Amino acid sequence: MAYTESGPRTEGRRKSGAHVIVCGNEKGGSGKSTTAMHIAVALMRAGQKVATVDLDGRQLSLTRYIENRRRWARSAGIDLATPEHFHVAPARRETVADAEGEEFRRLMDGIGDVEHRHDFVVIDTPGSDTYLNRLAHRIADTLVTPMNDSFIDFDVLARIDPVGHEIIEHSQYASAVRDARRERRQADNAILDWIVVRNRMSSITSRNEQKIDACLRELAMQLGFRMADGISERVVFREFFPIGLTALDDFEEHVLGTKPTLSHLAARQEIRQLVAALRLPVDESGRRRAETRRRYAEALARPFAMPDIFAG
Ligand SMILES: Nc1ncnc2c1ncn2[C@@H]1O[C@H](COP(=O)(O)OP(=O)(O)O)[C@@H](O)[C@H]1O
Ligand SMILES: [Mg+2]
Repeated sequence: MAYTESGPRTEGRRKSGAHVIVCGNEKGGSGKSTTAMHIAVALMRAGQKVATVDLDGRQLSLTRYIENRRRWARSAGIDLATPEHFHVAPARRETVADAEGEEFRRLMDGIGDVEHRHDFVVIDTPGSDTYLNRLAHRIADTLVTPMNDSFIDFDVLARIDPVGHEIIEHSQYASAVRDARRERRQADNAILDWIVVRNRMSSITSRNEQKIDACLRELAMQLGFRMADGISERVVFREFFPIGLTALDDFEEHVLGTKPTLSHLAARQEIRQLVAALRLPVDESGRRRAETRRRYAEALARPFAMPDIFAG
């Protein structure tokens, strides 16, 4: 296969390069792009160097978000930290194998180009099972899965008994993450840290939401993800997309000319809590944790009967 030879290039790449955060969920509208942008801005505001990648060639939401930010900052004459960004368009080739080989090269070359100049690479993915999406999950160090607070979205992770709410079986996305994890551990002994975060939560907790929470906690143990505190449904998380600002930016001063509201402050707190929950290697203790994880993975490493992950 044309790109099988390029596969090993992912090996060892992580050890010196940037930490890769992937926002993934095989469902549109769960908040991947919003979360990706907010995590990127939060990290930049904390002094980290951040690059971003958009793999959603259809929506290009993150790309637009960042373009809007750049354009607005220029027109307002404001120095606004903006990540170095690129998107990888789906390749069109005669065969699927050639197209995937080309996509592999585009993503890996793009990351190879930015990773030594940045601390973090934040990748936004499409809400569908594409080759690029699967590849992103294989190179992630941290996977953040936002999900809307409903059983419809829960379906992405597992099927639930409608009456007793027991978990019947794990869904395709959960299996895909499990495969990605296993193969990643094989490739360079790294553990993919998976965090699920409930998004667009309402301020009133209903019985339904309590059930979702209980099911998620059960599933977290089965699938090996961690749960972050949720993110609420707030206008501030979506209203500044046209000018590329996030809930974390100083928009009161530049745009509204007012003081932050309680909702703005709460929104910032939610994002800070999410970033803290990711336990990223942002400081000495984070780096120590990453190193411990790596050693733990090394100890765990044993041969797997591994399918060819790049088989077309
Ligand atoms: N916490 C939130 N509060 C309010 N609106 C949100 C929130 N999260 C996402 N949205 C809005 O929901 C829609 C889908 O979010 P988006 O990040 O584009 O999802 P995805 O990338 O998973 O398709 C967008 O209009 C976005 O502005
Ligand atoms: Mg999106």
